[in-house]
Amino acid sequence: MTRYEKIKYELLSSPKTWLITGVAGFIGSNLLEHLLKLNQKVVGLDNFATGHQRNLDEVQTLVTEEQWQKFTFIEGDIRNAEDCQKALTPENTTVDYVLHQAALGSVPRSIADPLTTNAANITGFLTMLESAKQAEVKSFTYAASSSTYGDHPALPKVEENIGNPLSPYAVTKYVNELYASVYARTYGFKTIGLRYFNVFGQRQDPDGAYAAVIPRWTASMIKDEEVFINGDGETSRDFCFIENTVQMNILAATAPDEAKDEVYNVAVGDRTTLNELYQSIQLALQENGIEANQQPIYRDFRAGDVRHSQADINKATTNLGYAPEYKILDGISKAMPWYKSYISSYKTN
Ligand SMILES: NC(=O)c1ccc[n+]([C@@H]2O[C@H](COP(=O)([O-])OP(=O)(O)OC[C@H]3O[C@@H](n4cnc5c(N)ncnc54)[C@H](O)[C@@H]3O)[C@@H](O)[C@H]2O)c1
Repeated sequence: MTRYEKIKYELLSSPKTWLITGVAGFIGSNLLEHLLKLNQKVVGLDNFATGHQRNLDEVQTLVTEEQWQKFTFIEGDIRNAEDCQKALTPENTTVDYVLHQAALGSVPRSIADPLTTNAANITGFLTMLESAKQAEVKSFTYAASSSTYGDHPALPKVEENIGNPLSPYAVTKYVNELYASVYARTYGFKTIGLRYFNVFGQRQDPDGAYAAVIPRWTASMIKDEEVFINGDGETSRDFCFIENTVQMNILAATAPDEAKDEVYNVAVGDRTTLNELYQSIQLALQENGIEANQQPIYRDFRAGDVRHSQADINKATTNLGYAPEYKILDGISKAMPWYKSYISSYKTN
Protein backbone atom coordinates (compact mmCIF):
# COMPACT_ATOMS: atom_id res chain seq x y z
CA MET A 1 0.00 0.00 0.00
CA THR A 2 1.41 3.44 -0.93
CA ARG A 3 1.46 6.25 1.63
CA TYR A 4 -1.19 8.03 -0.44
CA GLU A 5 -3.54 5.02 -0.29
CA LYS A 6 -2.94 4.73 3.44
CA ILE A 7 -3.65 8.41 4.09
CA LYS A 8 -6.83 8.34 1.98
CA TYR A 9 -8.03 5.34 3.97
CA GLU A 10 -7.28 7.13 7.26
CA LEU A 11 -9.06 10.29 6.11
CA LEU A 12 -12.12 8.30 5.10
CA SER A 13 -12.33 6.68 8.50
CA SER A 14 -11.47 9.86 10.42
CA PRO A 15 -12.53 12.93 8.37
CA LYS A 16 -10.79 16.26 8.88
CA THR A 17 -11.61 19.91 8.17
CA TRP A 18 -9.67 21.59 5.35
CA LEU A 19 -9.42 25.18 4.15
CA ILE A 20 -8.69 25.61 0.45
CA THR A 21 -7.89 29.18 -0.60
CA GLY A 22 -8.36 29.82 -4.31
CA VAL A 23 -11.02 27.11 -4.30
CA ALA A 24 -12.80 28.44 -7.40
CA GLY A 25 -9.63 28.18 -9.46
CA PHE A 26 -8.14 25.29 -11.40
CA ILE A 27 -6.06 23.57 -8.73
CA GLY A 28 -8.32 24.63 -5.85
CA SER A 29 -11.46 23.16 -7.43
CA ASN A 30 -9.69 19.87 -8.14
CA LEU A 31 -8.55 19.70 -4.52
CA LEU A 32 -12.13 20.38 -3.48
CA GLU A 33 -13.46 17.56 -5.66
CA HIS A 34 -10.99 15.02 -4.28
CA LEU A 35 -11.43 16.00 -0.64
CA LEU A 36 -15.23 15.93 -0.84
CA LYS A 37 -15.04 12.49 -2.48
CA LEU A 38 -13.04 11.45 0.60
CA ASN A 39 -15.95 12.72 2.77
CA GLN A 40 -13.88 15.56 4.23
CA LYS A 41 -15.31 18.82 5.53
CA VAL A 42 -14.04 21.67 3.37
CA VAL A 43 -14.13 25.45 3.65
CA GLY A 44 -13.27 27.36 0.49
CA LEU A 45 -12.17 30.99 0.17
CA ASP A 46 -12.02 32.87 -3.13
CA ASN A 47 -12.62 36.38 -4.48
CA PHE A 48 -13.15 35.20 -8.09
CA ALA A 49 -10.20 37.29 -9.32
CA THR A 50 -9.37 34.51 -11.81
CA GLY A 51 -11.54 31.67 -10.49
CA HIS A 52 -15.10 30.92 -11.56
CA GLN A 53 -18.40 29.93 -10.00
CA ARG A 54 -18.72 27.40 -12.85
CA ASN A 55 -15.81 25.41 -11.36
CA LEU A 56 -17.66 25.08 -8.06
CA ASP A 57 -20.88 24.21 -9.89
CA GLU A 58 -19.08 21.48 -11.80
CA VAL A 59 -17.65 19.96 -8.62
CA GLN A 60 -21.18 19.89 -7.20
CA THR A 61 -22.22 17.65 -10.12
CA LEU A 62 -19.31 15.27 -9.45
CA VAL A 63 -19.97 14.55 -5.76
CA THR A 64 -23.00 13.30 -3.85
CA GLU A 65 -25.48 15.69 -2.24
CA GLU A 66 -24.28 14.54 1.18
CA GLN A 67 -20.65 15.27 0.26
CA TRP A 68 -21.58 18.69 -1.16
CA GLN A 69 -23.26 19.61 2.15
CA LYS A 70 -19.81 19.31 3.77
CA PHE A 71 -18.59 22.29 1.75
CA THR A 72 -18.81 25.91 2.95
CA PHE A 73 -17.89 28.67 0.52
CA ILE A 74 -16.77 32.10 1.64
CA GLU A 75 -16.42 34.82 -0.95
CA GLY A 76 -13.55 36.87 0.37
CA ASP A 77 -10.04 38.13 -0.13
CA ILE A 78 -6.80 36.73 1.27
CA ARG A 79 -5.53 40.31 1.65
CA ASN A 80 -8.25 40.88 4.23
CA ALA A 81 -7.44 39.45 7.69
CA GLU A 82 -11.12 39.25 8.67
CA ASP A 83 -11.92 37.13 5.62
CA CYS A 84 -9.00 34.84 6.44
CA GLN A 85 -10.10 34.50 10.08
CA LYS A 86 -13.68 33.82 9.04
CA ALA A 87 -12.53 31.03 6.73
CA LEU A 88 -10.42 29.53 9.51
CA THR A 89 -13.27 29.35 12.04
CA PRO A 90 -16.23 27.76 10.24
CA GLU A 91 -19.30 27.26 12.43
CA ASN A 92 -17.17 27.10 15.59
CA THR A 93 -15.12 24.16 14.35
CA THR A 94 -11.40 24.44 13.74
CA VAL A 95 -9.62 23.92 10.47
CA ASP A 96 -7.06 21.12 10.61
CA TYR A 97 -5.24 21.66 7.33
CA VAL A 98 -4.81 24.72 5.11
CA LEU A 99 -4.09 24.28 1.39
CA HIS A 100 -3.20 27.80 0.30
CA GLN A 101 -3.62 28.09 -3.47
CA ALA A 102 -4.97 31.63 -3.90
CA ALA A 103 -2.63 33.88 -5.86
CA LEU A 104 -2.39 35.64 -9.18
CA GLY A 105 -0.58 33.25 -11.51
CA SER A 106 1.19 34.01 -14.78
CA VAL A 107 4.60 35.50 -15.46
CA PRO A 108 3.33 37.93 -18.17
CA ARG A 109 0.56 39.22 -15.87
CA SER A 110 3.17 40.03 -13.23
CA ILE A 111 5.34 41.83 -15.78
CA ALA A 112 2.34 43.90 -16.94
CA ASP A 113 1.09 44.65 -13.42
CA PRO A 114 3.62 43.85 -10.68
CA LEU A 115 1.79 45.76 -7.94
CA THR A 116 -1.43 43.74 -8.16
CA THR A 117 0.49 40.47 -8.31
CA ASN A 118 2.56 41.57 -5.31
CA ALA A 119 -0.55 42.46 -3.29
CA ALA A 120 -2.24 39.09 -3.83
CA ASN A 121 0.86 36.91 -3.73
CA ILE A 122 2.85 38.55 -0.93
CA THR A 123 0.45 40.64 1.19
CA GLY A 124 -2.30 38.03 0.71
CA PHE A 125 0.07 35.18 1.46
CA LEU A 126 1.37 36.82 4.64
CA THR A 127 -2.14 37.67 5.82
CA MET A 128 -3.25 34.07 5.38
CA LEU A 129 -0.05 32.69 6.93
CA GLU A 130 -0.42 34.90 10.01
CA SER A 131 -4.12 34.05 10.37
CA ALA A 132 -3.36 30.32 10.09
CA LYS A 133 -0.62 30.61 12.70
CA GLN A 134 -3.01 32.36 15.07
CA ALA A 135 -5.67 29.70 14.42
CA GLU A 136 -3.08 27.00 15.30
CA VAL A 137 -3.89 24.79 12.33
CA LYS A 138 -2.14 21.41 12.11
CA SER A 139 -0.40 22.29 8.87
CA PHE A 140 -0.11 25.00 6.24
CA THR A 141 0.67 23.76 2.74
CA TYR A 142 1.12 26.45 0.09
CA ALA A 143 1.52 26.72 -3.66
CA ALA A 144 5.09 27.73 -4.42
CA SER A 145 6.45 27.64 -7.97
CA SER A 146 9.18 26.23 -10.18
CA SER A 147 9.75 29.84 -11.32
CA THR A 148 11.87 30.15 -8.16
CA TYR A 149 14.66 28.28 -10.00
CA GLY A 150 14.99 31.39 -12.18
CA ASP A 151 18.22 31.51 -14.14
CA HIS A 152 19.90 28.55 -12.43
CA PRO A 153 21.07 26.42 -15.37
CA ALA A 154 21.27 22.97 -13.75
CA LEU A 155 18.87 20.22 -14.82
CA PRO A 156 17.08 18.50 -13.25
CA LYS A 157 16.10 21.12 -10.67
CA VAL A 158 16.99 20.17 -7.10
CA GLU A 159 15.25 22.09 -4.32
CA GLU A 160 18.46 23.46 -2.76
CA ASN A 161 19.86 25.08 -5.92
CA ILE A 162 17.99 28.15 -7.06
CA GLY A 163 19.06 31.08 -9.23
CA ASN A 164 17.89 34.67 -9.62
CA PRO A 165 14.17 35.22 -10.24
CA LEU A 166 13.31 36.19 -13.84
CA SER A 167 9.95 37.90 -13.22
CA PRO A 168 7.96 39.74 -10.54
CA TYR A 169 5.82 36.59 -10.21
CA ALA A 170 8.93 34.53 -9.40
CA VAL A 171 9.93 37.09 -6.77
CA THR A 172 6.54 36.79 -5.06
CA LYS A 173 6.70 32.99 -4.95
CA TYR A 174 10.23 33.07 -3.57
CA VAL A 175 9.19 35.59 -0.91
CA ASN A 176 6.46 33.11 0.14
CA GLU A 177 9.19 30.56 0.81
CA LEU A 178 11.24 33.10 2.78
CA TYR A 179 8.27 34.04 4.96
CA ALA A 180 7.38 30.40 5.51
CA SER A 181 10.90 29.62 6.65
CA VAL A 182 11.02 32.68 8.94
CA TYR A 183 7.69 31.62 10.49
CA ALA A 184 9.20 28.24 11.31
CA ARG A 185 12.28 29.77 12.92
CA THR A 186 10.54 32.65 14.69
CA TYR A 187 7.27 31.12 15.78
CA GLY A 188 7.79 27.37 15.33
CA PHE A 189 4.93 27.43 12.78
CA LYS A 190 5.81 24.81 10.22
CA THR A 191 4.72 24.88 6.63
CA ILE A 192 5.29 22.95 3.44
CA GLY A 193 5.86 24.71 0.12
CA LEU A 194 5.00 22.91 -3.11
CA ARG A 195 6.95 24.11 -6.12
CA TYR A 196 4.50 23.28 -8.88
CA PHE A 197 5.92 22.66 -12.35
CA ASN A 198 3.36 23.49 -15.11
CA VAL A 199 0.28 21.80 -13.72
CA PHE A 200 -2.47 20.98 -16.24
CA GLY A 201 -5.82 19.22 -16.40
CA GLN A 202 -9.58 19.64 -16.29
CA ARG A 203 -10.92 23.08 -15.29
CA GLN A 204 -7.68 24.92 -16.14
CA ASP A 205 -8.96 28.11 -17.74
CA PRO A 206 -8.39 28.24 -21.54
CA ASP A 207 -9.60 31.83 -21.81
CA GLY A 208 -7.98 35.21 -21.31
CA ALA A 209 -4.63 36.77 -22.03
CA TYR A 210 -2.86 34.78 -19.31
CA ALA A 211 -4.08 31.26 -20.06
CA ALA A 212 -1.52 28.47 -19.65
CA VAL A 213 -0.14 26.75 -22.72
CA ILE A 214 -2.04 23.43 -22.68
CA PRO A 215 -5.56 24.85 -22.27
CA ARG A 216 -4.81 27.75 -24.62
CA TRP A 217 -3.52 25.53 -27.43
CA THR A 218 -6.20 22.91 -26.92
CA ALA A 219 -8.96 25.51 -27.13
CA SER A 220 -7.42 27.13 -30.22
CA MET A 221 -7.04 23.78 -31.96
CA ILE A 222 -10.63 22.82 -31.23
CA LYS A 223 -11.87 26.18 -32.49
CA ASP A 224 -9.56 25.96 -35.54
CA GLU A 225 -7.78 29.16 -34.56
CA GLU A 226 -4.10 30.05 -34.93
CA VAL A 227 -1.72 28.49 -32.41
CA PHE A 228 1.43 30.38 -31.50
CA ILE A 229 4.65 28.89 -30.21
CA ASN A 230 6.91 31.34 -28.39
CA GLY A 231 10.47 30.76 -29.62
CA ASP A 232 11.69 27.76 -31.61
CA GLY A 233 9.53 25.20 -29.82
CA GLU A 234 12.51 23.52 -28.17
CA THR A 235 11.76 25.20 -24.84
CA SER A 236 10.92 22.37 -22.45
CA ARG A 237 8.83 21.84 -19.34
CA ASP A 238 8.04 19.14 -16.80
CA PHE A 239 4.25 19.08 -17.28
CA CYS A 240 2.43 17.70 -14.26
CA PHE A 241 -1.13 16.36 -14.41
CA ILE A 242 -3.48 17.75 -11.77
CA GLU A 243 -4.07 14.39 -10.04
CA ASN A 244 -0.36 14.22 -9.14
CA THR A 245 -0.65 17.71 -7.67
CA VAL A 246 -3.69 16.72 -5.61
CA GLN A 247 -1.75 13.72 -4.29
CA MET A 248 1.15 15.98 -3.23
CA ASN A 249 -1.15 18.38 -1.38
CA ILE A 250 -2.75 15.58 0.61
CA LEU A 251 0.62 13.95 1.36
CA ALA A 252 2.13 17.29 2.39
CA ALA A 253 -0.73 18.37 4.65
CA THR A 254 -0.62 15.10 6.56
CA ALA A 255 3.19 14.79 6.61
CA PRO A 256 5.06 14.09 9.83
CA ASP A 257 6.71 17.13 11.48
CA GLU A 258 10.20 16.17 10.32
CA ALA A 259 9.09 16.50 6.67
CA LYS A 260 7.79 20.03 7.27
CA ASP A 261 9.52 23.42 7.04
CA GLU A 262 10.63 22.32 3.59
CA VAL A 263 9.83 22.96 -0.07
CA TYR A 264 9.21 20.15 -2.54
CA ASN A 265 9.15 19.91 -6.30
CA VAL A 266 5.79 18.80 -7.65
CA ALA A 267 6.26 17.30 -11.10
CA VAL A 268 6.90 14.02 -12.83
CA GLY A 269 10.62 14.25 -13.51
CA ASP A 270 10.21 14.26 -17.32
CA ARG A 271 10.90 16.95 -19.89
CA THR A 272 8.70 17.70 -22.91
CA THR A 273 9.45 20.33 -25.56
CA LEU A 274 6.72 22.62 -26.83
CA ASN A 275 7.02 20.99 -30.27
CA GLU A 276 6.40 17.56 -28.70
CA LEU A 277 3.55 18.96 -26.66
CA TYR A 278 1.92 20.38 -29.78
CA GLN A 279 1.95 16.97 -31.45
CA SER A 280 0.66 15.20 -28.34
CA ILE A 281 -2.34 17.53 -28.07
CA GLN A 282 -3.10 17.11 -31.78
CA LEU A 283 -3.00 13.34 -31.40
CA ALA A 284 -5.17 13.33 -28.27
CA LEU A 285 -7.74 15.51 -30.02
CA GLN A 286 -7.76 13.14 -32.98
CA GLU A 287 -8.50 10.31 -30.57
CA ASN A 288 -11.49 12.37 -29.43
CA GLY A 289 -12.72 12.81 -33.00
CA ILE A 290 -11.30 16.31 -33.56
CA GLU A 291 -9.01 16.87 -36.56
CA ALA A 292 -6.67 19.71 -35.62
CA ASN A 293 -4.35 19.90 -38.61
CA GLN A 294 -3.19 23.50 -38.44
CA GLN A 295 0.55 24.20 -38.32
CA PRO A 296 1.85 26.26 -35.36
CA ILE A 297 3.07 29.82 -35.93
CA TYR A 298 6.48 30.48 -34.40
CA ARG A 299 7.07 33.91 -32.86
CA ASP A 300 9.56 35.59 -30.47
CA PHE A 301 10.58 34.09 -27.15
CA ARG A 302 8.56 35.49 -24.26
CA ALA A 303 10.18 37.73 -21.62
CA GLY A 304 10.62 36.12 -18.22
CA ASP A 305 10.35 32.52 -19.43
CA VAL A 306 13.02 30.02 -18.43
CA ARG A 307 14.39 27.91 -21.31
CA HIS A 308 14.24 24.45 -19.78
CA SER A 309 12.60 23.03 -16.74
CA GLN A 310 12.66 19.54 -15.30
CA ALA A 311 12.31 18.52 -11.70
CA ASP A 312 14.20 16.12 -9.53
CA ILE A 313 11.39 14.58 -7.46
CA ASN A 314 13.54 12.46 -5.15
CA LYS A 315 12.97 14.65 -2.10
CA ALA A 316 9.18 14.30 -2.44
CA THR A 317 9.31 10.57 -3.07
CA THR A 318 11.67 9.98 -0.13
CA ASN A 319 10.19 12.32 2.51
CA LEU A 320 6.51 12.27 1.56
CA GLY A 321 6.03 8.97 -0.25
CA TYR A 322 5.01 10.82 -3.43
CA ALA A 323 4.46 8.51 -6.41
CA PRO A 324 3.09 10.40 -9.44
CA GLU A 325 0.43 8.27 -11.09
CA TYR A 326 0.20 10.18 -14.38
CA LYS A 327 2.81 10.94 -17.03
CA ILE A 328 2.11 13.81 -19.43
CA LEU A 329 0.44 11.68 -22.13
CA ASP A 330 -1.86 9.96 -19.59
CA GLY A 331 -2.84 13.38 -18.27
CA ILE A 332 -3.48 14.86 -21.70
CA SER A 333 -5.75 12.00 -22.71
CA LYS A 334 -7.62 12.25 -19.39
CA ALA A 335 -8.11 16.01 -19.78
CA MET A 336 -9.10 16.12 -23.47
CA PRO A 337 -12.74 15.00 -23.12
CA TRP A 338 -13.24 17.81 -20.58
CA TYR A 339 -11.85 20.42 -23.01
CA LYS A 340 -13.91 19.01 -25.84
CA SER A 341 -17.11 19.31 -23.84
CA TYR A 342 -16.20 22.69 -22.27
CA ILE A 343 -15.30 24.35 -25.59
CA SER A 344 -18.29 22.94 -27.45
CA SER A 345 -20.63 24.14 -24.68
CA TYR A 346 -19.50 27.75 -25.09
CA LYS A 347 -19.31 27.47 -28.88
CA THR A 348 -23.06 26.93 -28.86
CA ASN A 349 -23.88 29.48 -26.12
N1 LIG B 1 -1.12 26.06 -12.65
C1 LIG B 1 0.21 25.98 -12.60
O1 LIG B 1 0.87 25.41 -13.47
C2 LIG B 1 0.96 26.59 -11.43
C3 LIG B 1 2.37 26.53 -11.43
C4 LIG B 1 3.05 27.08 -10.35
C5 LIG B 1 2.36 27.62 -9.29
N2 LIG B 1 0.98 27.70 -9.34
C6 LIG B 1 0.28 28.30 -8.21
O2 LIG B 1 -0.79 27.46 -7.83
C7 LIG B 1 -1.86 28.23 -7.30
C8 LIG B 1 -3.16 27.90 -7.99
O3 LIG B 1 -3.02 28.17 -9.38
P1 LIG B 1 -4.13 27.82 -10.46
O4 LIG B 1 -3.43 27.37 -11.67
O5 LIG B 1 -5.19 27.00 -9.86
O6 LIG B 1 -4.66 29.31 -10.78
P2 LIG B 1 -6.17 29.87 -10.80
O7 LIG B 1 -6.04 31.28 -11.29
O8 LIG B 1 -7.05 28.95 -11.54
O9 LIG B 1 -6.56 29.83 -9.26
C9 LIG B 1 -6.18 30.83 -8.34
C10 LIG B 1 -7.41 31.17 -7.51
O10 LIG B 1 -7.04 32.12 -6.50
C11 LIG B 1 -8.09 33.09 -6.43
N3 LIG B 1 -7.52 34.35 -5.92
C12 LIG B 1 -6.61 35.16 -6.50
N4 LIG B 1 -6.38 36.23 -5.74
C13 LIG B 1 -7.16 36.09 -4.63
C14 LIG B 1 -7.37 36.89 -3.48
N5 LIG B 1 -6.74 38.06 -3.32
N6 LIG B 1 -8.24 36.46 -2.54
C15 LIG B 1 -8.91 35.27 -2.71
N7 LIG B 1 -8.75 34.49 -3.78
C16 LIG B 1 -7.89 34.90 -4.74
C17 LIG B 1 -8.57 33.23 -7.86
O11 LIG B 1 -9.86 33.81 -7.97
C18 LIG B 1 -8.53 31.79 -8.33
O12 LIG B 1 -9.74 31.13 -8.08
C19 LIG B 1 -1.41 29.69 -7.43
O13 LIG B 1 -0.82 30.07 -6.21
C20 LIG B 1 -0.35 29.64 -8.51
O14 LIG B 1 0.57 30.71 -8.40
C21 LIG B 1 0.27 27.18 -10.39
